[in-house]
Amino acid sequence: MMKILAVIFDLDGVIVSTDEFHYQAWKQISNQEKIYFDREINERLRGVSRMESLEIILSHSDKKYSEKDKQLLAQRKNEVYCDLLNKLSPNDILPGVINLLMNLKAKDIKIAIGSSSKNTPFILEQIGLSSSFDAIADGNSIMNSKPDPEVFLLAAGKLGVAPEECAVIEDAQAGIDAAIAAGMKAVGVGTAASCVNAHLKLKDLSNLNIDQLLNEIRS
Ligand code: BG6
Ligand code: MG
Repeated sequence: MMKILAVIFDLDGVIVSTDEFHYQAWKQISNQEKIYFDREINERLRGVSRMESLEIILSHSDKKYSEKDKQLLAQRKNEVYCDLLNKLSPNDILPGVINLLMNLKAKDIKIAIGSSSKNTPFILEQIGLSSSFDAIADGNSIMNSKPDPEVFLLAAGKLGVAPEECAVIEDAQAGIDAAIAAGMKAVGVGTAASCVNAHLKLKDLSNLNIDQLLNEIRS
């Protein structure tokens, strides 16, 4: 039985509620483009990169978009999204996160971010957690986004911890699949609490017993 020596956190929807801002920004762009977009379609965007998210949205349109058009649409979405991020503060950190980070540190368990987002540094700065993690792997340093395991393997490599000794906390099916593909334990929170392949399922991170978390996912 392997010990858990590191916990890798997804960012959007796990540390902070930016998943809602992603939805609002894509909704604004799809309304402008007259493309049908709803919360069910939005669920498929969790964990996947900006350009792949755009492809999913455009699959609901009959219009042909050139590569240049797509780049401009993604840029417009990111501008709307970053305007929303400007309002972020430490108050937007999700329940239980700070407590969990402190408890993991107290137990000498390494902590990292494994996020598909290129806005990771900005978000961490806005919520005051820029220097809280031992390693950061994000959308700026990977070629393949979740469900590919690249971002989590990069985080584990930066930490110097074997994949089997890492647990990942995720709110996306793509992220749970990525963690499992990396050979890591997967904890599904929020919408990912319904993922059948998650090793542990939690509504959120509040009232979490850290020993229980580490023990339950070891077996
Ligand atoms: C992930 C989100 O964390 O980051 C996705 O779950 C998003 O919805 C992806 O598309 C990329 O984010 P960004 O900030 O680089 O556009
Ligand atoms: Mg997420």
